[in-house]
Amino acid sequence: MTPEGPADHWEVEALYDTCFAPGREALSSYRLRDGVPPVAGLSHVARDSGGILAGAIRYWPVRIDATPALLLGPVAVHPTRQGEGLGAALIETSLAQAAPLGWERVMLVGDAPYYNRFGFTLLQDVEMPPPTNPARVLGRALAENAWAGVTGKVRRWYD
Ligand SMILES: CC(C)(COP(=O)(O)OP(=O)(O)OC[C@H]1O[C@@H](n2cnc3c(N)ncnc32)[C@H](O)[C@@H]1OP(=O)(O)O)[C@@H](O)C(=O)NCCC(=O)NCCS
Repeated sequence: MTPEGPADHWEVEALYDTCFAPGREALSSYRLRDGVPPVAGLSHVARDSGGILAGAIRYWPVRIDATPALLLGPVAVHPTRQGEGLGAALIETSLAQAAPLGWERVMLVGDAPYYNRFGFTLLQDVEMPPPTNPARVLGRALAENAWAGVTGKVRRWYD
């Protein structure tokens, strides 16, 4: 697993197109990414021994009102490589690097049954831009109690 570099960019986009439904960029989470670069050093790619891209994860910075947080995603593993633990490795390896970079909390929009195993739980008072199913808004603290008292609308980093 290596940090994503400029040469990986279009291959990662193609992987995401393969793994997500068409129109993924219409999702509200993409509005938070528009015009904001991903977090340097945290986005990673996983390649097999032949150099074929098997999985990728990216992170963006967001704010909940004024409070900074990481937005995890998209994360995807090629359909031919799913179920081998690559998704877990991408998530855990990158998250382990987030706290040393100064990040205290991470959130995502995803399936609770998958993300519960990584310590993500429902963020009841954190509002993603509509339309987002509130049951899919999940968070994990990277520092003790880092989500306590954090409430409000998720905003673009530069808004
Ligand atoms: C979700 C994804 C990244 C997981 O990657 P992976 O390498 O297959 O994951 P792992 O091998 O670490 O874990 C596989 C386990 O997760 C489970 N799992 C995968 N997706 C799941 C989901 N949406 N809900 C619940 N469990 C899920 C599998 O059933 C498997 O369970 P097991 O360990 O009990 O057998 C991958 O399936 C993928 O790219 N899916 C399409 C894109 C996507 O949905 N991305 C996430 C957006 S929220």
